[in-house]
Formats: sequence, structure tokens, C-alpha cells
Amino acid sequence: MSQVAGLFNSSLARKYWMALTGLFLCLFLVGHLAGNLQLLLPLEDGAKDQFNLYAKFMTTNPVVKILSYLTYISILLHVVDGIVLTIRNRKARPQKYAYNKPGANSAWNSRFMGFLGTVILVFIVLHLNAFWAKMHWGPIDTYMIDGEEVKDLYTLTIASFQDASAGLGMTIVYVISMIVLGFHLVHGFQSAFRSMGWNHPKYMPIVMTVGKLFGIIIPALFALIPIYIHFIL
Ligand code: HEM
Repeated sequence: MSQVAGLFNSSLARKYWMALTGLFLCLFLVGHLAGNLQLLLPLEDGAKDQFNLYAKFMTTNPVVKILSYLTYISILLHVVDGIVLTIRNRKARPQKYAYNKPGANSAWNSRFMGFLGTVILVFIVLHLNAFWAKMHWGPIDTYMIDGEEVKDLYTLTIASFQDASAGLGMTIVYVISMIVLGFHLVHGFQSAFRSMGWNHPKYMPIVMTVGKLFGIIIPALFALIPIYIHFIL
């Protein structure tokens, strides 16, 4: 029993799970971005039907459903382990030493991962409420494509960002959240490799570079979607 507890509860195990779930969530982000970039396709090229058929596939295909459940579990585990590790680290270092200048020893985002993660969690809750909950439980319009009923997630998403006032607010919230996500990913990506023990001195510079590029390019492309929908479409 204690061995099972050690598998999940020791700080080492929790760091391992955080790294594993974090890297899985990075893969989720790549897939999610690829799907959402279809929102940028021209309407006259059938973007609406293409996106809605894609969304239907993503919510009904059994294999994708398993991946979705893994995503939800990963988010939960990542958050819980993040909270537990932050509390344990604070308890282990209760005093603020006069000579301790954290700014001189580490990048600011590495010291604020808990805060950055909390902002991302708030974003995810708002985001799921805006789209995912409506896709699953409505209210959402439906229509037929070649005799097949689809939910019109495309129009719902475009309207959410396009609206003159609420859409602008939502676009700003998304862009700020993506900047926060970027800082979280730039530190988190390479940190996950270290936690997994994949930190060979020869390969670490490559991991650092890939992590930086990942943390800049993926959130920038996500941010481009609401910006394009609100200001250009
Ligand atoms: C502009 C950026 C984004 C857009 C337009 C967007 C759009 C959507 C839409 C339309 C859905 C509902 C799809 C469905 O239920 O099948 C969804 C689900 C979801 N989104 Fe996003 N998303 C964006 C960015 C993000 C980011 C940055 C994250 C994470 C940090 C995220 C996390 C999720 C999750 C966890 C789900 C549920 C996925 C599932 O059920 O498998 N999204 N998103």
C-alpha cells in the first residue's frame, strides 16, 4: 500500500507525473491548434462545413474520446501536483534569507510557474464554458450536411470573437492568456525534460531551443485566431 502511495505521493513521483502530463498536454496543444487553424480558412471554400464536421468527429470518434479523457485527467493531475509541490516547497523553505536573490539565479517565469499556471487554469475554465460545454450540452444551432446533422460550432466560435464589444473583450482575454501560456511553456518544456531525467548535457541546448520555439510559436498561432476573427474576418 505504501509503495502505491509512493508511486503517486512522493515529491519525486509528483514531479514525474507533472512532467509526463505536461508533455502530453503539449501534444494536445499541437493537435488542438491544427484543428482550430481551420477557423482561418475562407468561408467560400467551405470552412464552416469543414470545421463543423471536424468538431463532430472530435466529439464522437471513440479513439479521440479516449484522448479527450486523457486530456481532462492530465489537466487535473498537472494542477493537483502543481499545488501540492508548491505548498511542499514553501514549507521546506519557510524563511526568506537576506542574501537570497532569486532574480540573480533564475528566470522570473521559473519562479512564477504556479501563478502562470493558475491564470491558464482560469482561462481553461472560461474557455470550456464558452465552447466545449455548449458543444456538448448546448444551446447550439444544428443543420444538415448531406443528410447528417451537425452542430454549428463554427458560427458560435466566430460570433464569440467577432462581436463588437464582448468579442473584443474575449479577444483581449485570449491574447493575454496566450502570452501567459507562452511564459509557462518556455520554462515548463525544458523543466519537464529535466524532471524525467532526460537532461544529457549534449542534448539539453537543443531541448532549450525547441522549448523556447514551442513556447513562442504555439501560443502566437493560438492568439492569431481571435485577432484574425475579430479584426480581419
Ligand atoms: C484561439 C484559441 C482557441 C480556440 C479558438 C479554441 C476553440 C475550442 C473549441 C471550439 C472547443 C470545443 C471543441 C469540442 O468540444 O469539440 C475547444 C475545446 C477545448 N479547448 Fe480550446 N481553443 C483555443 C485555445 C485553447 C488553449 C490555448 C487551450 C489550453 C491551454 C485549450 C483547451 C481546450 C480543451 C482542454 C478543450 C476540450 C477538448 C476536448 O474535449 O477534448 N484551448 N477549444
